[in-house]
Amino acid sequence: MHEAADPLVRVVGLTMAFGDEVVQRDLAFDIRRGEVLAIVGASGCGKSTLLRHLIGLQTPAAGQVLYGDQDLHQAEDETLAVLRRRFGVMFQAGALWSSMTVGENVMLPLRLFTDTPADERERLARWKLALVGLDDAFELEPAELSGGMRKRAAIARALALDPELLYLDEPSSGLDPFSAARLDGLILNLRRHLGTTVVMVSHSIDSVFAVADRLLYLDHVEKTMTALDAPRLLAESGPDRVRAFLQRRGRP
Ligand SMILES: Nc1ncnc2c1ncn2[C@@H]1O[C@H](COP(=O)(O)OP(=O)(O)O)[C@@H](O)[C@H]1O
Ligand SMILES: [Mg+2]
Repeated sequence: MHEAADPLVRVVGLTMAFGDEVVQRDLAFDIRRGEVLAIVGASGCGKSTLLRHLIGLQTPAAGQVLYGDQDLHQAEDETLAVLRRRFGVMFQAGALWSSMTVGENVMLPLRLFTDTPADERERLARWKLALVGLDDAFELEPAELSGGMRKRAAIARALALDPELLYLDEPSSGLDPFSAARLDGLILNLRRHLGTTVVMVSHSIDSVFAVADRLLYLDHVEKTMTALDAPRLLAESGPDRVRAFLQRRGRP
């Protein structure tokens, strides 16, 4: 398979396991600069597990996750801290700290990881909230937001440190179709205006077709990736299970 030069991340021979239980084996793919890459597959196939490997929260049973020349899982603490600043993450639950206002949530990474002064933190957080369409949410409590607004606030928090790469785990799960479509629009805007590379786990086929340049399919039977290509091409001529999966378009 042809791969673009100078990818942001290279995954090489990655096998993921819990004890003796292999989740996925022999994964090999690049994350290209500026792309939206969707990770899809049946529930339980290992999508969230793959994200945890990509951000260094879980150690590979075999293989490597390379950011440039750096193996994420071999990096010394100091290098690791630098690597971690390159990506933002929104986990599946997408939870905000309920004891803090929305603004405080978005400012938190700046407070923890930078010495940005307080007034500048507020300015940056308000800008990130405006970017996700939450101009007026700075002073609100997370409980005052709708589900879709909370997801967008969590994305604003993931963007706090201006990452070049954004990992999103099921960003549109639990959202009504309107909010889900709005989130798709937001993801495309981030790429267009900030050049952010996005890796998104999704079970929403509509969302994958709306935003993804490429789709990585993790097969739950073969326990490895069986497709990596443009969604439209895979819907036409991908392996059987991938085509069947992509035919669920229009269903929640
Ligand atoms: N902490 C864990 N310990 C043991 N097995 C786990 C753990 N987390 C997930 N698994 C198993 O790993 C597999 C992949 O899980 P996950 O990555 O969450 O799937 P997905 O996100 O694709 O739905 C599942 O079979 C799940 O039961
Ligand atoms: Mg998951």
